[in-house]
Amino acid sequence: MKAVVLVGGEGTRLRPLTYSTPKPLLPIGNQPFLERQLEWLAGYGVDEVVLAIGYLPDAFDQHFPEHEYAGVKLRYRVESEPLGTAGAIRFAAEGIDERIVVCNGDVLTTLDLGELVAFHEKTGADASIALTHVDEPSAFGVVPTFPDGEVRGFVEKPPRGKAPTKWINAGTYVLEPSVLAAVPPRLQVSIERTTFPRMLDRRGRMYAVQSDAYWIDIGTPGKYLEAHTDLLAGKIGAPPAPGAVETGPGVWVQGDVDVHADAQLFAPLLLGAGCVIEAGAVVRGSSIGAGAHVEAGAEVVRSVVLDGATVGPDVRLLDSVLGADARIGVGGSATNETVIGADSVIAAGSLLSNARVPAEG
Ligand code: GDD
Ligand code: MG
Repeated sequence: MKAVVLVGGEGTRLRPLTYSTPKPLLPIGNQPFLERQLEWLAGYGVDEVVLAIGYLPDAFDQHFPEHEYAGVKLRYRVESEPLGTAGAIRFAAEGIDERIVVCNGDVLTTLDLGELVAFHEKTGADASIALTHVDEPSAFGVVPTFPDGEVRGFVEKPPRGKAPTKWINAGTYVLEPSVLAAVPPRLQVSIERTTFPRMLDRRGRMYAVQSDAYWIDIGTPGKYLEAHTDLLAGKIGAPPAPGAVETGPGVWVQGDVDVHADAQLFAPLLLGAGCVIEAGAVVRGSSIGAGAHVEAGAEVVRSVVLDGATVGPDVRLLDSVLGADARIGVGGSATNETVIGADSVIAAGSLLSNARVPAEG
């Protein structure tokens, strides 16, 4: 089976991390998200993936120089300008004249793709779509259905309080070639706002499977952090990261790490290979990247420290993300979903906070 993964978005809500790394290549639990997604697809028999690329195209080539991962052959289609979701799928799938799977490139899920494909075959639908239940649907595509699973409508990002249901588009589709044949080539077209609604207007057959599997869109700082919390809580499976070994309840370690006897570790935790936790440091509910340093007296709580980053002495990192190889100088702090970009150097004593996210109690 072939799949198209949409990886062309700029990831604006995760800036500045996405200035240098496209969102699908940002690590989740010390593994680039796209690797996890390719493993998931491979688990359902997908053997070829076309990456629908727009933003930072070279990063994908550099990351997968063999054009292969987890037994999946990778092809790249680079848009010269964003074609929107349907335009990008159509462009990426040129030359493929068979049923395809399509995924958004920012959804971490344990969804049963096999069930979606089986249901698609059973109903003989033109398009099938996985749905997940959320408390606040206004940031998503909202999809009401009939009792037999047939889709009644598709409302992308309805105003708050106006959504007809809390079942939303989980960003995973099975599409017959007829769906893409209806998309004009090389034009900017949204599958959510144009292709699906138009298909329904023309009485196309679209079915949905409601899933209660784990599901999260990693595209905002809060959700990126939440994905890590869930990963560490075992919601995506164990081990939470490749090669991680549980050295104590909820403490997962990848390779050799250097933890000082006077450092305090509180589960759940993921410590990447070669990381250093110095004396008096406290690390709690966090993911620490390979080769990262948490220096003396620093406190890292519910945070993500990416590879090679340094949390300087007596720094406090709370509910925040420190980009790869970035550094916070002595006595500084970053709190409330602060996101610090790769290679940044934050001066000693700097107090960073994301004012849009109110501090706790
Ligand atoms: N190649 C390409 N070209 N990819 C694109 C483009 C484009 O022009 N525009 C967006 N993408 C990719 C993004 O990289 C992402 O992987 C995916 O398409 C969805 O875009 P987002 O920008 O993340 O959309 P969203 O999260 O606001 O909403 C979408 O996902 C929700 C589920 O997370 C919609 O599909 C919603 O209906 C859905 O509920
Ligand atoms: Mg998204």
